[in-house]
Amino acid sequence: MEFADVKKVAVIGSGDMGHGICQVAAMAGYTVAMKDVKQEFLDRGMTRIAESLDILLSKNKITEQDKEDILARISATTDTAKAVGDAQIVIEAVPEIMDLKKSVFSDVSANAPANAILATNTSTMSITEISKSVSNPRRFAGLHFFNPVNRMKLVEIIKGAETSDDTARVLVQFTEAIKKIPVVVLKDSPGFIVNRINAPNQALLSAILDEGKIKPDELDTAMKMVGMPQGPYELADYVGLDVFVHTLTYYAETLSPEFKPGKYLTAKVKAGDLGKKTGKGIYDWSTGKPVIDTSRNCQDITPMEMLAIQINEAVRVFKEGIAASVADIDLAVVHGMKAMAGPFAICSGMQPGQLTEALQKLEDRFGLAIFKAEPEVADGSFKEMK
Ligand SMILES: NC(=O)c1ccc[n+]([C@@H]2O[C@H](COP(=O)([O-])OP(=O)(O)OC[C@H]3O[C@@H](n4cnc5c(N)ncnc54)[C@H](O)[C@@H]3O)[C@@H](O)[C@H]2O)c1
Repeated sequence: MEFADVKKVAVIGSGDMGHGICQVAAMAGYTVAMKDVKQEFLDRGMTRIAESLDILLSKNKITEQDKEDILARISATTDTAKAVGDAQIVIEAVPEIMDLKKSVFSDVSANAPANAILATNTSTMSITEISKSVSNPRRFAGLHFFNPVNRMKLVEIIKGAETSDDTARVLVQFTEAIKKIPVVVLKDSPGFIVNRINAPNQALLSAILDEGKIKPDELDTAMKMVGMPQGPYELADYVGLDVFVHTLTYYAETLSPEFKPGKYLTAKVKAGDLGKKTGKGIYDWSTGKPVIDTSRNCQDITPMEMLAIQINEAVRVFKEGIAASVADIDLAVVHGMKAMAGPFAICSGMQPGQLTEALQKLEDRFGLAIFKAEPEVADGSFKEMK
């Protein structure tokens, strides 16, 4: 199948990610089928899309007619065959449970046209493993959107062990057509590009909480002072501490046991304090916004140190052949994390000594070897990587 043949997109799951994917596909002119297990979930998904379009309308970014046309392009159904029977691309966005994803895909695979491309929006799981449930893994890939879908530009296109070049190419073209920025992930590896680069900093955030010397408010305030739109703890609460713990557990199983979530976060999840969605997490969210004390900012862990961790992991991502180029890594970080620049661009002007000193300090303080400087960071040769 060629990109020009793509007319209808089916999205399985109408939750946080699914409804957003339906919206951006319909806004680009595609016919969209949204599938979920219950009508009430579909109704909620449609309401969320309409609310999002109302915001665009109030900003004069679309007209009333555009809104009507976009909504008219989306049909909602609980019937798999109806959703995927005449779709050229099927995107799955159901909860992050391997058995569920596999059963969804065996159903989709049995009902979709033979040449349709099937894609998963998984944020952590193995594309190759999920692809075992479809009849043709060559036309299966990861299509990883970021939250919120209507605002985040990056889409990682992940090649599983069997994904064909044609499948990846059509997905790149589709991603561009829905006005997103595609970055191809060459290797199906935990965290893909963006989440992997962020992974050691997540381990650091957990270790800081367990150490208890720095208040989350102080670190978040320091990070916002250097231009981050949200502090890292605020972001963790926003996404959900259950997701944070789940992700670290997955990295502990797949990358290194050092990623194991610490006591503080584990206790929060056990107590049901999951962040924004429960009204309480690291911060109090009972008013819908986090209560953060911005009167002090932490001097102890600096943004430069967190950047050193990021470049170190980015070098690993490049060396492991997960990304095609350092430019792709920087592009992915800019649009997947809303960063002002990618780690390679920012660190090109830094002295290697600055980076290794920062990494050594963190390794010693928290006893984590995942912070050990890569040889290319230590000798500065990462600056020659292309
Ligand atoms: N939320 C994020 O920040 C984020 C970011 C990137 C990727 N993801 C990934 O996207 C996927 C979906 O996450 P989410 O946050 O949208 O979850 P969600 O819980 O908000 O939505 C999941 C939806 O799937 C539906 N569903 C469950 N079983 C189904 C089935 N058999 N058929 C059809 N629909 C079914 C649920 O009813 C629900 O509406 C996960 O794999 C997640 O890891 C999430």
